[in-house]
Amino acid sequence: TGYVTIDEGFKNTGSTKSAITFLDGEEGILRYRGYSIEELADKADFLEVAYLLIHGDLPTEAQYTEFVGKITKHTMVNEDMRKIFDGFPVNAHPMGIMSALVSAMSGFYPDSFDEKSPENLQLHIIRLLAKFPTLATWCYKKSQGHPINYPKNDLDYCSNFLQMMFALPVEDYKVDPVVSRALNKLLILHADHEQNCSTSTVRLVGSSKANIFSSVSAGISALWGPLHGGANQEVIEMLEAIRNDGGNVQKYIDMAKDKNSGFRLFGFGHRVYKNFDPRAKIIKKAADDVLEKLGVSDPVLAIAKGLEEAALKDEYFVSRKLYPNVDFYSGIIYRALGIPTNMFTVMFAIGRLPGWIAQWLELRDQNQAIGRPRQIYTGETHRPFVEKNKR
Ligand code: CMC
Repeated sequence: TGYVTIDEGFKNTGSTKSAITFLDGEEGILRYRGYSIEELADKADFLEVAYLLIHGDLPTEAQYTEFVGKITKHTMVNEDMRKIFDGFPVNAHPMGIMSALVSAMSGFYPDSFDEKSPENLQLHIIRLLAKFPTLATWCYKKSQGHPINYPKNDLDYCSNFLQMMFALPVEDYKVDPVVSRALNKLLILHADHEQNCSTSTVRLVGSSKANIFSSVSAGISALWGPLHGGANQEVIEMLEAIRNDGGNVQKYIDMAKDKNSGFRLFGFGHRVYKNFDPRAKIIKKAADDVLEKLGVSDPVLAIAKGLEEAALKDEYFVSRKLYPNVDFYSGIIYRALGIPTNMFTVMFAIGRLPGWIAQWLELRDQNQAIGRPRQIYTGETHRPFVEKNKR
């Protein structure tokens, strides 16, 4: 152990080489497989990006059609999964349910343990991408006390998700293209982010050669935390609290600066981005566009902008290079699309899924050693055992 150096939070530890996502935190650059996030968010379709991350290149027309066709075919979920799902209480958090159900998929597709069958693995990847949104909508429907909707496979990925979320048996539901395009953009922005906490978790679990469902399930759990993907829920709750508190943003800024308050400005700061988060720039603009197009006016948007402006003038945030991150404005868009707050992190997970899959596959192809960090022991030295009655 004499050789061990501690790097708490892995602030300076590279865990792998990777050809998937390039990120320059100083310049605010993010690229998937060489394509800039700005261009992808503007021009691509989410499944095209999923294909790009997983297979390395953008699909040709024929490859895209085949990929989408396969995903569409697998959107239904085994009815026995419903029995597991039905056991959850109505107020269970959707992230907990999602993690459990994805983990349960390893029981439904046990050959995912078979490393020697690349065909099976490809099929499981398709299954994951296909069934994940279906499962997510189950969580929402349950919380509303509504029956679940089955997938409609003449719809595209985002529209099908929206249909399963919002269609009611008693009325016609037409997907609003503004809503589905906004969702497409948000999912692309979330699709990968190199070795973040949840992706590192997926890779670490995968490094023991655990199956893809268990590895992704662990990633969902990691994403749930408020310092990671859970921040998008925290942001809206914070903005609501500020609104109910008379809109006094300065009070919350002062609280975030006070280390004893235990409060952080959610949606602010990033381990890697020290100038701006390129995703936040795109999302801020999209929030204005989407709310305008949908004719939604959300008072928390003005509070968010006021909070950002005040923070960016404040020495505390400036000197620590703390800027709005991807989670700062995304919740405002989700809300305008009708998605409830407790589903925000699930939306992040739907977006991140192709990234987790691509990273898991890359790790597997790299044939890396099992992830097993060391420690510096700080406990008791050797102690003799004392019988219970003599302690
Ligand atoms: N509010 C107030 N102070 C902050 C904040 C914040 N949001 N973020 C960082 N700081 C301070 C921190 O207290 C520290 O101060 P000092 O140097 O005086 O000790 C300094 O800034 C550096 O922060 P850190 O915690 O050492 O940085 P980190 O790289 O370990 O943490 C972070 C990064 C994102 C966890 C952190 O900025 C944070 O907690 N932000 C709020 C939660 C959040 O928005 N998370 C979403 C991240 S982006 C998308 C995602 O991953 O899901």
